[in-house]
Amino acid sequence: MNERLEGFIKPGTEEESLVKQLDFSSLPRHIAVIMDGNGRWAKKRRLPRIEGHRAGSESVREVVETCGRVGIKFLTLYAFSKENWKRPKKEVATLWRLLEDYLKREDKVLVENKFRLKIIGQRDPIPASVRRELERVEELTRNNDRLTIVLALNYGGRTEIVDAVKRILKDKGFEHDGLDEEKFSSFLYTSDIPDPDLLIRTSGELRVSNFLLWQIAYSEIWITKELWPDFRKKHLLQALVDYQKRERRFGDIYPHKERN
Ligand code: IPE
Ligand code: IPE
Ligand code: MG
Repeated sequence: MNERLEGFIKPGTEEESLVKQLDFSSLPRHIAVIMDGNGRWAKKRRLPRIEGHRAGSESVREVVETCGRVGIKFLTLYAFSKENWKRPKKEVATLWRLLEDYLKREDKVLVENKFRLKIIGQRDPIPASVRRELERVEELTRNNDRLTIVLALNYGGRTEIVDAVKRILKDKGFEHDGLDEEKFSSFLYTSDIPDPDLLIRTSGELRVSNFLLWQIAYSEIWITKELWPDFRKKHLLQALVDYQKRERRFGDIYPHKERN
């Protein structure tokens, strides 16, 4: 067990036996999560949907901490899609407020742990006070590199691709003959981030909901029925253990460790 996990993982628990199965030399570099099921969690308890979102922020805290301690380098969290504006105004407003509260509360934790925060998605429609807070924490953590937490906010995978095309068209000196997959990737919001190795979705839904469409081309997908507010370190460790049992072939007939 690595030293950061001691004390965090209690002896004799399922978490401990999962950690013992982990090969720390072949962890996914990047984990992306579709955090789904907050509404259903609340409904099961006859609570307003908003309470599900509130409970979900505790899962965010635990997953961030666990990734940091395990040694994951990139964690992308799908927190608000471009399509989520369709929801009732009050729910949308509460989602943004919860995010603002989270940033005000957790900024010190990010700094202390050398975590970096990065936002992907179109920023302009995000409420101004939330945007300010996001940009403050991004700036505050800009030079950290232990774990990069990428928050997908007002994010849509198709929009990201269209935005990349627009940027290419605007780039006057761009040599179109030189356009290949690698070059195209450099115009995406995620230009400085490796593709996700592992994509997790909670609440059992079997779809990608417009998330990182380009980047998940060869991600391993892990879906759990667990609702997001119930998602704990145990589930993340289960996903990691399962991931390490997979054979990643990238089209070849032999397993490869990594694509690049
Ligand atoms: C995920 O939970 C949170 C966001 C999309 C912001 P949902 O709110 O989608 O929960 P369900 O799918 O209705 O249960
Ligand atoms: C995906 O969840 C978006 C986020 C987790 C932020 P949704 O709940 O919006 O997805 P659909 O509508 O069920 O596909
Ligand atoms: Mg949902």
